[in-house]
Amino acid sequence: MITPSDFSEQYESLINRPVLAKAADFQRQERLTHVIFAQQFDRDMLNHLCSTASMIRQISRHRQGQDFLTGLLSHKRAMLYFTQASTRTFLSFMAACQILGMTCNEIRDPTTSSEFKGESPLDSMRMFSSYFDVVIMRSNMAKFAESCAYLMNELASQGRRSVPVVNAGSGADEHPTQALLDIYTIQRTFEFSSQKDNARQSRFDTLRRRYPELNKGLENKTYGFCGDVGRGRTVRSLTTLLALWPGVRFNFIYPNYDKLAPYADMLTRLEEAGVGIEHSHSLPDVINRLDMLYMTRIQHEHDTDADRRFFETFDAAQFTLYPELLSKMREYCPILHPFPRNQEIPFEIDSDPRAMYFRQARNGMWIRAALLAHLFDVDGKIGAFHQKNYGA
Ligand code: CP
Repeated sequence: MITPSDFSEQYESLINRPVLAKAADFQRQERLTHVIFAQQFDRDMLNHLCSTASMIRQISRHRQGQDFLTGLLSHKRAMLYFTQASTRTFLSFMAACQILGMTCNEIRDPTTSSEFKGESPLDSMRMFSSYFDVVIMRSNMAKFAESCAYLMNELASQGRRSVPVVNAGSGADEHPTQALLDIYTIQRTFEFSSQKDNARQSRFDTLRRRYPELNKGLENKTYGFCGDVGRGRTVRSLTTLLALWPGVRFNFIYPNYDKLAPYADMLTRLEEAGVGIEHSHSLPDVINRLDMLYMTRIQHEHDTDADRRFFETFDAAQFTLYPELLSKMREYCPILHPFPRNQEIPFEIDSDPRAMYFRQARNGMWIRAALLAHLFDVDGKIGAFHQKNYGA
């Protein structure tokens, strides 16, 4: 059995550096070479990716546009190395590759690869880089994707074949591409554009009469994160990105139990970034004050016996979005969830116009296609095609 220390020891001194020093190793000038953690993105890069995602979305509505997109990377092959369970991330990356014409291959069960015979995951990685042009990977081992990126950099420095590594979820630490689709979804929501808008009246004008403080965009908003805040890697990655906008406040709503609380390192980082932070142990108490609600499930697969004893007396109602709560929420407050869900969002909520989680999952396909286009330097071609066919 391979343990995280088997590979992280090899790159320990690189892994333990400050995050900005590490980020410099994963880009060349303005272009990312590997995608490992959320701190690699700044607002300009996020806006660029969101804009490319929207162009791809629009271009792909027509056959001519689809043909253009599939011609962009038809000479590239992707390896989807997902040894931890996934539905959305795996499928949306596969669909993103297909939008750009890439051929996809996969390993999802390590018992079908030579890892079953004891091959080290780092050797597997090097083999993938021999056959494919990008490795998109999910693992239950924190820092494994980061270690793979260092391996690729080492090979590149020796003049050997090296390919981009994309972290599609690593242990409990990071899920950077989930944060990208979350940002894209929030950005689209807070544009407040509506098909019913006209020159005299817009949805935003109507909302502003009820909520005079409301502004367009991500800044100056209160973001609520409810559920297993401690063990959820999506919250870690998304809060890192949202903290790039001024005037944001986070309300962490979690059971009063250490493991489910936001971790100290994350809180310190957010406070240093100037984010206002509140803590709560009851969703009904704070729901009326939120501009966005990000629900998460309790990750029982990580429970120990002590955790199970805690959950015997736990009041799940305080962390469930019951239909009765909808009337207390702000009229525009989007409900997001990375999924899968358990009982924290009952099915009755799905028909509420604020329920964004299915759109959010579809947005994953567009933003991941934009990310791949960026990694392979074809985003400029997408911009030029869009300009020519759709104008500014
Ligand atoms: N949100 C997310 O990562 O979903 P999957 O685990 O299904 O990929």
